[in-house]
Amino acid sequence: MSASKPVRRRFHEGTTIADLKAYMEPFVASLGYRLNTETEFVDEVLASEIEILEATGDVYCPCRVRTGDPKEDVRIVCPCIPFHAEQFAAMRKCWCGLFIRADVVDGADLLGVIEEPEAGTEVDVPVCRVADLPAGSIRHIKIGKSDIALARVGDEFYALSNVCRHAFAPLADGVLEGHEVMCPWHGWRYDVRTGHTDHPGADVKTYPVTVRDGEVLVSVTVR
Ligand code: SF4
Ligand code: FES
Repeated sequence: MSASKPVRRRFHEGTTIADLKAYMEPFVASLGYRLNTETEFVDEVLASEIEILEATGDVYCPCRVRTGDPKEDVRIVCPCIPFHAEQFAAMRKCWCGLFIRADVVDGADLLGVIEEPEAGTEVDVPVCRVADLPAGSIRHIKIGKSDIALARVGDEFYALSNVCRHAFAPLADGVLEGHEVMCPWHGWRYDVRTGHTDHPGADVKTYPVTVRDGEVLVSVTVR
């Protein structure tokens, strides 16, 4: 590895398109995405990423503009899906179209056209598979900027804000008893179905949840 070309640890010099696919495919699969079915297009995008990798030391997105601010630019390192979960779920692809949602049969219509959803668009974001969350458990998920606690009671799933209104403790670290989650810090209790607590004016937001083909989807609004 030459000093003039700092290459991120996970990539060695001479990284190939096949290397990028091997690294990216399992990761995006865990998020419900796969490579576009248009293989020629995929190879073109990944070839651009390798050029960018060699020039900058990381696989920045070929269809977005880098700002020069590392904190901002980390949001466009490929695969950038976790940073833009709402938008990509609405578009059924990433901006470039390198990745498409796993259930898209033909990715030909979903190439590099960037149509960002308008703010206010409702979108169902897949967050896990049913089997991933045992009954009686609750876990933290993040969709865009939203911190959410996802709870399973029996076969029903519920999503509510993860932030306790008392002193901002993470509710997903609390104890789930029936339909109530008890805050881990001082014991406020919230109904996971409604976000209601006995403390006046302190109910938390809830999010619609659906289960489709064994996948749990939380409905959020694109901001
Ligand atoms: S938009 Fe697509 S190609 Fe661009 S960085 Fe994100 S995942 Fe990669
Ligand atoms: S932070 Fe939740 S009860 Fe105090």
